[in-house]
Amino acid sequence: MKSNIIKYVDLSKQWKGEKKDLLKLFDKALSKGIYIGGKYLEDLERKIASFLKVKYVVTLNSGTDALTLGLHCLGLKKNDEIITPPNSFIASTSVISHLGLKPVFADVLEDQNIDPNEIKKKITKKTKAIMPVHLTGRVCNMIEIQKIAKKFNLKIIEDSAQAFGSKYANRFAGTFGDVGCFSTHPLKNFNSIGDGGFLVTNDKNIYKRAKILRNHGAKDRNVIDEFGYVSRLDVIQAIVLNYRLKKINQLISKRRSNALMYEKLLNEKIFIPREKKEEFNTYHTFVIQVEKRDNLKKYLLKNGVETAIHYPVPIHLQPSSKYLGYRKGNFPCAEKQSRKILTLPIHQFLKKNDLIRISKLINKFYKI
Ligand SMILES: Cc1ncc(COP(=O)(O)O)c(C=O)c1O
Repeated sequence: MKSNIIKYVDLSKQWKGEKKDLLKLFDKALSKGIYIGGKYLEDLERKIASFLKVKYVVTLNSGTDALTLGLHCLGLKKNDEIITPPNSFIASTSVISHLGLKPVFADVLEDQNIDPNEIKKKITKKTKAIMPVHLTGRVCNMIEIQKIAKKFNLKIIEDSAQAFGSKYANRFAGTFGDVGCFSTHPLKNFNSIGDGGFLVTNDKNIYKRAKILRNHGAKDRNVIDEFGYVSRLDVIQAIVLNYRLKKINQLISKRRSNALMYEKLLNEKIFIPREKKEEFNTYHTFVIQVEKRDNLKKYLLKNGVETAIHYPVPIHLQPSSKYLGYRKGNFPCAEKQSRKILTLPIHQFLKKNDLIRISKLINKFYKI
């Protein structure tokens, strides 16, 4: 039974296929004593910029740092309000809080992304920015969000941690706002072999400031413009990302075809937010919304299928958010989804038979 397990992710398989090439590349850099900075990072930044059709890229130590430095560069003041969804990974809200800003939540749509109409309801005199999160690799309705930002003179910082390569109306996630923030955590589609991330922008001032901030705020060796951070991507991660960028479109295609297969195989009573015509999703995760979610999860595991839940507790109900004063019932859609969502395996190493097996088990569980 053990060998029959369908893993939620399979990083060892990814490494196995790349090991020979990557070890050679690591050796080449490390033998020259290149560990941090230099040509490898500049090369990667140029290539990501060209891929996403954006002017500037600053590689960083994580997606969380991308959000932190991105927000820092927007020049906001203490207690300024940032509107963001409550169903994200904790990082999007925690960075707002760490910078002395105030997270203000707006509920989400049935596709799990922030609802532009709910954003409008949350705008006050103190609102200074919107932080949409492109959850699951689906881009939020950025056209509407841009309109709101323009009307109320708000900045946009996109949490694109889960959405590298995703598009809305033919434009890449992360390139609609003032700053786009990406994670290359090992579980992401475009992944490093440790922590990593980057921010993207078309604004030269944000670019220059972020580059300085990632290295203690040091303008040069002896001049510190403002207190900064330590958030340099190391050369090993840059080599991996440079290598994997060449194959990212192939990986995205495979995940998209897996998603299509699920949509065909799963009974239509299983709710899956389908891709809309203006969307191009990269399926960082493939999430279904079902009754008896916890029982289904156990049933799948008993039958050798690993799944996950992103995320079982909305951020406004986390103990860390208590000071914000939210209560159960404040965000009905996000709360309902937190009880129904289940993330199925979608990784690039799944075989057709795996998808058939998973879908059959789910249909059988609901006797449909
Ligand atoms: C939506 C979202 N935001 C932010 C992050 C933070 O990225 P990192 O783990 O690279 O710090 C993640 C990563 O898990 C994420 O999924």
